[in-house]
Amino acid sequence: MWQHQGGILVSLCVLFTLTQVVVSVNIDNIQCCQCGTLYPQGVADIKPQIMPSPFVIKVAPDADFYRPGLDYNVNLTSLDDNRKFVSFMIQAVRTNKSRNTNEPIGSFTALDNINAVQDCPGTFGNAFVSADYTEKSNVRLVWNPYRSFQGHVEFRATFVENENTYWVKEKSRPIYSPDNELPPELPPRYIPNPIAFVDTVGCGITKGCYRIPEDCSEIECEYIFTWRDKGDKMVFEMSALTDGFNDRYFAVGLSKGDIYMGGELVFECVHNSSRGRVDVFQSLNINNEHQNVRLVKPKIGISFEEGSYNNGRLRCRFDREKTVNDEEVGDFSLTSQRYHLLMARGKARRGFIKRHELTVGHLPASSPDEVDLLIYDNISGRARYHLVKAHACLMLLAWVFFAPIGLIWMKYYTTMWPNSRFMGEKYWFVSHATCTLWVILLVLVGVILIFAEVGGWAQLPELSLKAHPILGIIVFICVIFIPIIALIRCPETHTCRPVGNWFYWLFWTIAFCLAIPNIFIGMEFGKVMVPWWLTWVLCIFFLFNLVCEVILEVHQCVTHKKNKERRKKWELQKKENPNAHIPEPWPAGRTFKRNILFTHFIVCLIVVIIAVITVAVS
Ligand SMILES: *[C@@H]1O[C@H](CO)[C@@H](O)[C@H](O)[C@H]1NC(C)=O
Ligand SMILES: *[C@@H]1O[C@H](CO)[C@@H](O)[C@H](O)[C@H]1NC(C)=O
Ligand SMILES: *[C@@H]1O[C@H](CO)[C@@H](O)[C@H](O)[C@H]1NC(C)=O
Ligand SMILES: *[C@@H]1O[C@H](CO)[C@@H](O)[C@H](O)[C@H]1NC(C)=O
Repeated sequence: MWQHQGGILVSLCVLFTLTQVVVSVNIDNIQCCQCGTLYPQGVADIKPQIMPSPFVIKVAPDADFYRPGLDYNVNLTSLDDNRKFVSFMIQAVRTNKSRNTNEPIGSFTALDNINAVQDCPGTFGNAFVSADYTEKSNVRLVWNPYRSFQGHVEFRATFVENENTYWVKEKSRPIYSPDNELPPELPPRYIPNPIAFVDTVGCGITKGCYRIPEDCSEIECEYIFTWRDKGDKMVFEMSALTDGFNDRYFAVGLSKGDIYMGGELVFECVHNSSRGRVDVFQSLNINNEHQNVRLVKPKIGISFEEGSYNNGRLRCRFDREKTVNDEEVGDFSLTSQRYHLLMARGKARRGFIKRHELTVGHLPASSPDEVDLLIYDNISGRARYHLVKAHACLMLLAWVFFAPIGLIWMKYYTTMWPNSRFMGEKYWFVSHATCTLWVILLVLVGVILIFAEVGGWAQLPELSLKAHPILGIIVFICVIFIPIIALIRCPETHTCRPVGNWFYWLFWTIAFCLAIPNIFIGMEFGKVMVPWWLTWVLCIFFLFNLVCEVILEVHQCVTHKKNKERRKKWELQKKENPNAHIPEPWPAGRTFKRNILFTHFIVCLIVVIIAVITVAVS
């Protein structure tokens, strides 16, 4: 027994030593770095990190242009207190793509006593490389430009955090050469140095956080907003991921009592590329007008403001007095009541925010519950728009289940089961009438629900979404006409009957053909929150529906002659002995038709169940 345990202990020890050996061998093997590519050597299988680096290059002074002879302070800094790099390589390179951009420009010296050397000598300068593996969180360097201008330059650095984690060619802001034309896409200003990360470790303990997705750390958060009490002020941090283009904003609104835009006090974190700055402003959302108005004094009550925009990460940090005496702000005291938090991001122009989009991924997120800014909550998730979801479910039921089935009965099954009746009516008529009634009812309720949600006609910013209410109303009108035509058309024996039938068919077809694209547009709305794959499921479903119709159409053509003969024979028989009850003839190929009908029904049922459940729970 003891021996056995001893054995385990020994093997554990051996294993432990082995892993230690492996690790230390690996870290020693990494040579930082290759000239030109800046890739570490000895990391054959490991790819560089693609997530934004916690290590950045900070450059001072914040001047736009460099000149030979002037020295620049360059820091290699960790934005995250808990993370350090063990090795690095840095060089200045030209930003001009048409010239050799791998060539080192100028040279570096270290301000502190660190173990690092000049490397990769070239005509215009050399790179600077660390020569040991001590943990570093801030390396202070001085860059000495080359004797003459070499075009606009930027710094590129590789950071090795450990044997598995490294970043290659991280960029600094550029510094411009007065000899060259300024690139048009960049303002003649500097890009602000990144400000410190939003720390998520204290969420729910030392500060309140609203994060999407749930429990993310800042590097992967789509949105994060934090709040902390500081006496008569609140400290706010906001950070969002954008598409990375210039002039983007992230805004957080405090909403009284609802999850809809209108009546909020808004904190904006806005990038203004023509100034090269990220600023914090305040504005108000005007009730019911889908309009945002910047305050006359947009920075009232705000202090210690900072902001940055790097690698698509827009970040602001500021203090705000709990109450300000301002007519515009009115009774918006940050801490005297509870608010829903609305988080939106979108495009800005010259520092002014534009309306956000409403599609999936752009619709602002609202906190599911109201938040008290004095309580350090730890929340995530989005509020759900129940009426929108109900509208979507009803429309799916109508157009993915009842309408296809009702239509297929009306078009291809009027001659099936010629001698059977249900409550005195033919089967096709009963099925079709039931389906039609359901469609009418569902569309009616669906339209009422969506009007109740929107509170009138929807003002939509995007073109495709704009079509949704218009198409919806056309479909609605057609659906209303269907029963009216059915009621007012001529009696069965009259010659005008086919005209009535034709109109009936026309309205049904228009409604169905417009409803399908409208469903696809509808799924673009962020408020429905459907996963992307549902679009594909429905796409395949409507294709399947089409295939069924084509098959039945072909089948009808093929059996047309045979059916005609059968009918003729039956009419002849009836004429010969008018008193006998001779059953009507069955159409040809009825087993096949019955199978198609059954398959179609089952597929409709399965798809509608999947779709409705997905919309309801997502
Ligand atoms: C570099 O770091 C030092 C020490 O933290 C700081 O005083 C200095 O301002 C930094 N320089 C830059 C360019 O950020
Ligand atoms: C890039 O370098 C080429 C060749 O030296 C030069 O003609 C061009 O003007 C430079 N472009 C910029 C934007 O500096
Ligand atoms: C915050 O909430 C997440 C779930 O949303 C949870 O996993 C995490 O432990 C919470 N953190 C704290 C400090 O309560
Ligand atoms: C954005 O920058 C431009 C150019 O400096 C300036 O005119 C404009 O006022 C700025 N916008 C805001 C909102 O400050």
